[in-house]
Amino acid sequence: MFDPHSVPADPLATSALAARGLEYRRVDPADEPALQAWVQAETRGFHHARPEAPELRRALQVSRQRNVRGVYDPTAHDPQVPVATVDGWPSGLSVPGGRSVDAWAVSSVTVSPTHRRRGIARALLEAQLRYAKAAGAALAMLTVTEATIYGRYGFGPAASAATVHVDRRRAHWIGPESPGRVQFVEPADLIGKAPAIARRAVARTPGEIDRWPGLLERHFGLVDPGSADARALRVARYDDAAGQAQGFVAFRVVRAPDEPGALECDVFVAATDDAERELWRFLVEQDFVTEARVRLRSVDEPLPWLLEDPRAVSLHEISDHLWLRVLDPVAALSARDYGTAGTLTLEIADPLGHAEGTFVLDVSGDGHAEVRRTGDARPDAANGARPEARHDAQADAASSHPRSGRRSRAQAAHGLRIDARDLASIYLGGTRPSVLARAGRLAELAPGSLAVADRLFHAPRTPHLSIWF
Ligand SMILES: CC(C)(COP(=O)(O)OP(=O)(O)OC[C@H]1O[C@@H](n2cnc3c(N)ncnc32)[C@H](O)[C@@H]1OP(=O)(O)O)[C@@H](O)C(=O)NCCC(=O)NCCS
Repeated sequence: MFDPHSVPADPLATSALAARGLEYRRVDPADEPALQAWVQAETRGFHHARPEAPELRRALQVSRQRNVRGVYDPTAHDPQVPVATVDGWPSGLSVPGGRSVDAWAVSSVTVSPTHRRRGIARALLEAQLRYAKAAGAALAMLTVTEATIYGRYGFGPAASAATVHVDRRRAHWIGPESPGRVQFVEPADLIGKAPAIARRAVARTPGEIDRWPGLLERHFGLVDPGSADARALRVARYDDAAGQAQGFVAFRVVRAPDEPGALECDVFVAATDDAERELWRFLVEQDFVTEARVRLRSVDEPLPWLLEDPRAVSLHEISDHLWLRVLDPVAALSARDYGTAGTLTLEIADPLGHAEGTFVLDVSGDGHAEVRRTGDARPDAANGARPEARHDAQADAASSHPRSGRRSRAQAAHGLRIDARDLASIYLGGTRPSVLARAGRLAELAPGSLAVADRLFHAPRTPHLSIWF
């Protein structure tokens, strides 16, 4: 696996920030005071309370696994505390077809309100994209607090999430009986098995990313087990008929004295459909509870079909949760499976250059794609200079490809002219190309191309990400 600490400082970000009197530095994972100052700055950047000792220890431990960068102002009251933070690390991203593609996760993007709107975030983000490329990542990815910031860097929303509310009084179960069983377990007893269950759940859901060490401990309240939050947390596990653990939930019930409560669940991990159904049943059939609120679920849950009254279920806080940025179209597009056989040309425009070019996607009957670049990449792509688009797709696509056989020119010319950020949004199958075309965001190269693109990019499972990062 690529070592996130091996990435050298980005010279463009260093010089852009130096021109503003600022220092762009990697935070040495062994330098405890520097890492602590960075964590404190990041916490303040997100307007969170100062972390208590156990949470600080956890944050330091997680940061040590990442490429941590800070921007420092030598003239500030405390020049050891960064005025901007960011971190990044290599991580798998699940794609349609069950494979994982090499991606680069970006997190902790903050700029102090004292230093805002001076181009610091832009310098940090553009450098992250170059680190991602250097690490061999096909895509960069992040979750966002605001939807207006990242499009300018070529990110597009790619997988959504929602809070599922269930009215307990109307939740009469009509789903099939499961051969397994759900039982309460102590978090500390499950933590050993949980990563393997989570890995299988991640693999079957496009849009999920690898869980990093320490995340499940936090989800299980094991970072600070004596805290009120951790003590309120209950964990239940689903075992299949063979006794194999296949899923778990972590939840709490909040209620006033002598009043029925509301169940709140932030952690729902299911490696099989049986586990998913039975864990839902367990959550929605609790007594002395009026409502279940389960966060970061798919917008396409099977739950309404498992209840006699589907209106017991409602979706709230539907959000564009996972944002992707395609950096290497050949690697990214080859990794996923497609909905049908077919050939499509993609003329990708990318203001930052990384994904710029013309590519032909040739999908065989088994859903696998062969992807080749037919238009030049700009030689200046990697250093962020704005390239000029080259629209030679029809001619390229008309040239015969060994696996395409003989095709008429009209057939071969199916294609889209698309911006990198919109390619990110159709990549996992969460948004249909024809919807973006209706929004005027992409264009067909030949009539009929949108129908082909819709069929190709269709994914059998709606993309979904169930964590923040
Ligand atoms: C969002 C944030 C990182 C921006 O930092 P910044 O250094 O002020 O941003 P920059 O000066 O580099 O601006 C970069 C671009 O983003 C735009 N931008 C910055 N913040 C924005 C916001 N909140 N909404 C919309 N656009 C924004 C700027 O106008 C600029 O556009 P341009 O380059 O196309 O002219 C900073 O305001 C912040 O730390 N906010 C709180 C934490 C947060 O929300 N982080 C994002 C985590 S996902």
